[in-house]
Amino acid sequence: MNLNAIKKYVIGNPFETHAVENDADIITGELKYFLSNDDHTVLTYNMGEHDKVYGMGEAVRGINKRGWIYETYCSDDPMHTETKRSLYGAHPFAVIDGKDVFGVFIDYPDRLTFDIGYTQSNILTIKIPEANYKLYIIEGKTPLDVVKKFRVLIGKSYIAPFWSFGFQQSRWSYATSAAVQSVIDSYKNNGFPIDAVYLDIDYMEDFKDFTVSEERFPEFESFVASAKNENIHLVPIIDAGVKVENGYDVYEEGRANNYFCKDKNGEDFIAAVWPGKVCFPDFLNKVASEWFGLKYKRLIDAGIDGFWNDMNEPAIFYSEKALDKAIDKVASYKGKNIGVYDFFALKDTVLGLSNSYSDYSSMYHNVNGDLVCHEKVHNLYGYNMTKSASDAFKKISPDKNILIFSRASYIGMHRSSGIWMGDNQSWWSHIKLNLQMLPSLNMCGFLYTGADMVGFGDNCTEELALRWLALGIFNPLMRNHSALGTRDQEFYRFEKISVFRELVKLRYALIPYLYSEYIKSVENDDMMFKPLAFEYRDDKYAQSVEDQLMIGECIMIAPVYEPNAIGRYVYIPEDMIAVHFRSENDYSVEKYNRGHFFIEIPTNEVVIFIRKNKALPLVKSADCTANIDYSTLGFVGNVDKDFQYTICKECGAANGESRISKINCRVFGKSEGINLNYEVMK
Ligand code: GLC
Repeated sequence: MNLNAIKKYVIGNPFETHAVENDADIITGELKYFLSNDDHTVLTYNMGEHDKVYGMGEAVRGINKRGWIYETYCSDDPMHTETKRSLYGAHPFAVIDGKDVFGVFIDYPDRLTFDIGYTQSNILTIKIPEANYKLYIIEGKTPLDVVKKFRVLIGKSYIAPFWSFGFQQSRWSYATSAAVQSVIDSYKNNGFPIDAVYLDIDYMEDFKDFTVSEERFPEFESFVASAKNENIHLVPIIDAGVKVENGYDVYEEGRANNYFCKDKNGEDFIAAVWPGKVCFPDFLNKVASEWFGLKYKRLIDAGIDGFWNDMNEPAIFYSEKALDKAIDKVASYKGKNIGVYDFFALKDTVLGLSNSYSDYSSMYHNVNGDLVCHEKVHNLYGYNMTKSASDAFKKISPDKNILIFSRASYIGMHRSSGIWMGDNQSWWSHIKLNLQMLPSLNMCGFLYTGADMVGFGDNCTEELALRWLALGIFNPLMRNHSALGTRDQEFYRFEKISVFRELVKLRYALIPYLYSEYIKSVENDDMMFKPLAFEYRDDKYAQSVEDQLMIGECIMIAPVYEPNAIGRYVYIPEDMIAVHFRSENDYSVEKYNRGHFFIEIPTNEVVIFIRKNKALPLVKSADCTANIDYSTLGFVGNVDKDFQYTICKECGAANGESRISKINCRVFGKSEGINLNYEVMK
């Protein structure tokens, strides 16, 4: 692709983030579109009244980001309410769609703000704390064109293994091998397909990275192997902080070799997370990063082939210094008659202990021999932790595609791994947030992603679980995960177990489509999930649809995300068929012309809208991805002319056949003389 449409401006002396892979030529002189103050720390753009602004990756609110102020700052914050400005990932890329169509990426690793019509409704203001950054302006004919050019700039997205498109079950925590086995057995005995079960922090010994508790997981290696025999991948968590403990080799090696972040006196910076006191590996130091990455080998040698990297903003509960100060401050109130302001201050003293500016600015990295304050490069920490793992996997196990995804991220990390959307809640509004984040993340290169299905914090209900599952089956990362102390939410726990089973099976029937569309999106720098506004540019109704998505080239979804609903209003942007799936085999079809419709969607149904002259490939579901049989592939189609569909090679090659010419298909529309063919992508 021609990168001439990209204008790169270098302001001051930027820190090298490695966000960009295929760089553009530097432009000097006047900034295009933006007005800038003298020192280039404030950029403003006058938006037209109806301009839309997309992007910002992992963030609250709608697909159109206009009307709020966002900070790109990796934040450990599980309360994703609409007033929040940052979540776990930092993705400073926005696409303006209006009188001008362009993208803007500020490559800068510290906190910056995008005020998108919040202070003044028609002004987009970007504030950067210092005049040292790179700015990219990406011009295009359409928002999608802009996104695709941006994606070429930042490089190809990570490809997750095929099995990671299977259903995955997690909980904080299945704390013993017996607990894990019981989850596997319960799913299998109840006839659910499943591919992975997660190991949260309790598999470790005292929360020490790369250890396994012998007491709770005796003979770990054979346990991993026996799970593998049942086609279950066990996926352990790795946390950023390394427990301070004499005799613990990871800590000892890190300390001896100066692999940890330092304080301003050159001592190891110590703060507390799950294990109590920890040191943070200095992932911006190349040698330290390589050292930590190779530690994953221990678990890979035990048969593990998937990981999730957590607490890597990095999350800090408290530092020793801050805790001492806070305790003194709290003690100073003892016996006093505390009024309103003192009471607020007292509360803030304790709440302000975690993830504080004062701690982040007391922590230092060694970047090629230079001491760099963490606060200046905060957004690169999780990115580099995860890159360290992914780089190491290529050395440890070059022939295997090991699953990796992270909580914190920055643009550029999308080349090494996926992300999950962090600690959401079992709230109805978070189903919608899950949907809205998918396209925004795709714009920033993150294709392998998903939310904690059914919600991490708080307690779910059966209805919420069913509605979330009906969206969850389309998330590339389809993982049911929940927090300590919340109500059990494994699907076999619910009364309507057979409905849950049929919907999970439907996911497996859809995997060839979902994985193919995922691979194509990676290869073509495309979005797997698109807002309707991107696809139907001339349709004024499609421009503001915030709760429906196009997935890949053939389908649209419109999930229900409200309680007690019998269905919902759907905007149908072209002639489509709505396929109401009650199971992979049991479905009914309605035809719609363009327009607004109320569509009844009971909780036991998933409705998939198939576009005109497109068809949806489906296989017979299997108990796991490894047993999907491609000779069962068929199509549900909405065609009146020949239709060609391409399927990615990993799916197509799975049963050794390169092309299957005889297919089962059920075609709606004028089916006479129609050919449905599919081809394996070369
Ligand atoms: C963090 C993670 C969550 C995990 C928990 C315990 O909150 O985001 O997914 O379950 O830590 O490890």
